[in-house]
Amino acid sequence: MNNMHSQTLKKNIVNKILGDKTRTPQKSVGQAFAPANIALCKYWGKRDLILNLPMTNSLSISLNEEGARTKISLWEAPKADTHDKIILNTELVHPDKPFSKALSLYLDFFRTHEEMRFQIETDVDIPIAAGLASSACGFAALVKSLNDLYAWELEPHKLSILARLGSGSASRSLWDGFVEWERGCCVEGLDSYGVPLTVQWPELRIGLLILETKQKNISSRVAMENTLNTSPFYRIWPEVVEQDLCVLKSAILKRDFNTLGTVSEANAQAMHALMMTARPSILYSTPETLKAQNQIGMCRQEGLSVYFTQDAGPNLKLLFLEKDLNAVKDIFPALKVVAPFERFL
Ligand code: PMV
Repeated sequence: MNNMHSQTLKKNIVNKILGDKTRTPQKSVGQAFAPANIALCKYWGKRDLILNLPMTNSLSISLNEEGARTKISLWEAPKADTHDKIILNTELVHPDKPFSKALSLYLDFFRTHEEMRFQIETDVDIPIAAGLASSACGFAALVKSLNDLYAWELEPHKLSILARLGSGSASRSLWDGFVEWERGCCVEGLDSYGVPLTVQWPELRIGLLILETKQKNISSRVAMENTLNTSPFYRIWPEVVEQDLCVLKSAILKRDFNTLGTVSEANAQAMHALMMTARPSILYSTPETLKAQNQIGMCRQEGLSVYFTQDAGPNLKLLFLEKDLNAVKDIFPALKVVAPFERFL
């Protein structure tokens, strides 16, 4: 499927979502924040590669104030310049960089006319493309800032669909707290978006254990596709997810932390084990990742309730309760700790 065809397919979906909403900016600057999110039950594999439609549902927790802050405005580009102006963490990003190209292709869906150019300034708190959900919050903040610029006032589930067209996991970054991303079954994916769970869990803590800030050498998009196409075990993944999701949602309702931790960790390990059975095998963990995983296992043997999850990168996210904060910090002093529900107390 060539790029032009995939752009046309996505553009059709965008047009369906926007309907008769205006394509003329209603203010000079649109701005928004979106939180990063960490999946407790992972999305790994697409039923539609172009529209980022997942094979299964997934479940995440948003990281409160850790995320992306984005401003978007129209840019009067000098005559010779045919590109958008993209500023990431105060630095201008060259238009030839994959980051700029991906954003500009996405922005093509929202231009009123071909010559229209945007200036985007975005500040992301977490390392980019190191398996720390930077693209999820990035696309969600971009969609929200477009919604602000054009004053569309779209419902959150529609923003979630638009964000998904940029990056699958971005569909979950439109809300705080726990969010389930529904797989949906419609071919165009108009039923595949995030749905927030109304449960709060103020004692829950997420620790970001950053072991490596280098960009990953295989994108989640490629790794997912290779796993789905070549792993002889992929066929059991949807079943694993279905069971894990059911247990996780019930653990959340009951505030049963040990079940939440056990199943989140097992689900992440199952995803990484699955990737290792792709041909060629995919490995995101480094020796530091394994060392930290062992350390966490040892902490549990000594009675400390701490668990980890891991995405498409070597870094870990620790799960624990507020009462164990000091004990966990003693073992991992560099941990960046997030209280996902703090603002809502
Ligand atoms: O949305 P993507 O293409 O960045 O993929 C995200 C994949 C994982 O982070 C590994 C799992 C997930 O559900 O977020």
